[in-house]
Amino acid sequence: MSMYKTLIRPIFFSLSPERSHHLALGMLDGLRKIPGIASLMKGMYRHEKPVELMGLKFPNRVGLAAGFDKNAEYIHALNHVGFGFIEIGTVTPKPQSGNPTPRLFRLPKDQALINRMGFNNDGLDAVVERLKKRPKNLIIGGNIGKNKVTANEDATSDYLKCLEALHPFVDYFTVNVSSPNTPGLRELQEKEPLTNLLRTLQQTNRAMPNPKPMLLKIAPDMEEGQLSDIVDILHEVDLEGIIATNTTISRDGLKTDNTEIESIGAGGLSGRPVKDVSTKVVKYLAEKGQGRFVIIASGGIFTPEGGHGGSPRHRSDAARAGRKGRCHAAHLAADRTEAGPIAAQRSGSCRRPPACGTRAR
Ligand SMILES: Cc1cc2nc3c(=O)[nH]c(=O)nc-3n(C[C@H](O)[C@H](O)[C@H](O)COP(=O)(O)O)c2cc1C
Repeated sequence: MSMYKTLIRPIFFSLSPERSHHLALGMLDGLRKIPGIASLMKGMYRHEKPVELMGLKFPNRVGLAAGFDKNAEYIHALNHVGFGFIEIGTVTPKPQSGNPTPRLFRLPKDQALINRMGFNNDGLDAVVERLKKRPKNLIIGGNIGKNKVTANEDATSDYLKCLEALHPFVDYFTVNVSSPNTPGLRELQEKEPLTNLLRTLQQTNRAMPNPKPMLLKIAPDMEEGQLSDIVDILHEVDLEGIIATNTTISRDGLKTDNTEIESIGAGGLSGRPVKDVSTKVVKYLAEKGQGRFVIIASGGIFTPEGGHGGSPRHRSDAARAGRKGRCHAAHLAADRTEAGPIAAQRSGSCRRPPACGTRAR
């Protein structure tokens, strides 16, 4: 058994998931400040399998999904553990504390989490200040959203504020309309409001001196008709890509006892149980999109290859699903139950380029 499973995981699991997350990231940040450690880590976790997508040169295809470093506090530490890109956020214009704790729950039997964080973040000003000192050799995506107190009718103004303030400091944008934890947010995924929102954002972006690639992040809980609308909208507003998917509100097929699930209550489910449903969405988008936009897979990715273990040569389902698309990039999110509090440990443990199972088309 690895030292992680016998020693480190029990310590982290004795703490609340949120505390252990911040503790682990704080430790990583402390470690990289010890002279010599940063370059050692960089050497250990270096994964070079470059790919050029959306005009950006990614060192490899495995990135860190939004929600792990919402406030860009740990970008310097995370830059040393092998990710091809890091997505900060979701950032909202004003700081907000999110939902009351507890709001993050482990489901070890399912290798999953349920969260109802509710876009807790330090707000634009604080995040911009941190990004001014960002590492230059790292691709950073800015995941943007609206404040809870902002009505959906005024949401565009919140997204615009985020776009404009973050524009000089990030390499791409993700428009997040798919969190289940901000009341009414997912209504912005409907055809008309979504088209209007994305068109306004893209027009503003393209009018700026150095336009950035813009992606949409969607929920896995969508009917085929809705997904088909999304593909049409992507074409109509000429978006560069899509991230599929966010967490699910479904609780189907879980091994965890039903009474425990019910006692946890509302929130988005992530981890292993999301893999099949998000892979299905990736497959649909890849077939329907015919390679006209970039697809970043997110949901249940546990290994650098994008699958759930097995041989490093194993081509993941997500990668297979994306084959008909122009490209596929895996998005390793915050898996805190299997791989441990630091998702990068998992990609590092492969000792191969994280993108070894995926391929551009
Ligand atoms: C604790 C937690 C917080 C998250 N916060 C955000 C967020 O702020 N914005 C966002 O777009 N996605 C957020 N997500 C969703 C992840 O980015 C990812 O899309 C989702 O968890 C599916 O990937 P996974 O199964 O690998 O975790 C969050 C997920 C978790 C577990």
